[in-house]
Amino acid sequence: SANTGDGAEGNGDDLITIGFAQVGAESGWRTANTKSIQDTLTTENGFDLKFSDAQQKQENQIQAIRSYIAQNVDVIAFSPVVESGWDAVLQDAKDAGIPVILTDRAVDSEDDSLYVSFIGSDFVEEGHRVGEWVSENLGTESINVVELQGTTGSAPAIDRKEGFEDAIAGNSNVTVIDSQTGNFTRAEGKTVMEGFLQAHDDIDVVFAHNDDMGLGAIEAIEAAGKKPGVDIKIVTIDGVKDGMTALADGKFNYIVECNPLLGPDLAEIAKKVVAGESVEKRIVTHDDAFDQEGAKAALPNRQY
Ligand code: AHR
Repeated sequence: SANTGDGAEGNGDDLITIGFAQVGAESGWRTANTKSIQDTLTTENGFDLKFSDAQQKQENQIQAIRSYIAQNVDVIAFSPVVESGWDAVLQDAKDAGIPVILTDRAVDSEDDSLYVSFIGSDFVEEGHRVGEWVSENLGTESINVVELQGTTGSAPAIDRKEGFEDAIAGNSNVTVIDSQTGNFTRAEGKTVMEGFLQAHDDIDVVFAHNDDMGLGAIEAIEAAGKKPGVDIKIVTIDGVKDGMTALADGKFNYIVECNPLLGPDLAEIAKKVVAGESVEKRIVTHDDAFDQEGAKAALPNRQY
């Protein structure tokens, strides 16, 4: 292994051993994110990647991180399923001298010495951009919005809700009439939307915290005999291929992108950390936004 800082060259290879504790496989976004990491952290690229899938459970992620500490990897990277409850395991990594890089999602630890860098989107900004679009384009008359939230306690669910609410606060035409978690999955997005449709006959807009829940909402709306994108507008975050296709087909109305291709940035930061170079504490990735015409133009070249 390449690490240790004690001058030892270890087992003779120069590979950086990196343990990556992934959230799960809950969405198309997550699949694209995992592929980016696995395609980039290869042996040809200088890495020995140990990858685990926590199935959206914090205890599984903590267990994976503990096992990476026990294996004395060079670097630990992970995308925390929820924001809180990481201090103890991150302190253990720090005590073992293993640097931690956060990708995609943040932790809410007071002590930011528990990780060396955090690479990912600005989720508050994403929610804010969706809210601004809704307010400007749909909020010229009185509208009722239902919200499909991401995983309870996760950074993207907390931040996107906050950003959206902030953006619509000044427009009294826009009212959020119901809000529930769909856990970032298509199946739960569909079930929660079915409940919304039963409870309310006056829904104008769905704000889904990711494409997959919006895609589930399409199924529920169509099953109720209504036209998604027309009778009930749908705005989402991510921009994965299925979402962009729904937008180009007129079933979604607006998407703010969340860039899942974090592998290259992670590889670069990990190499610098192991080489003892200083790294940026916060790297914010660039996100585009698409309306229906924009999606038609972007789809042919979409990578994921
Ligand atoms: O943390 C990023 C979010 O997690 C994506 O927007 C969502 O699709 C994924 O499950």
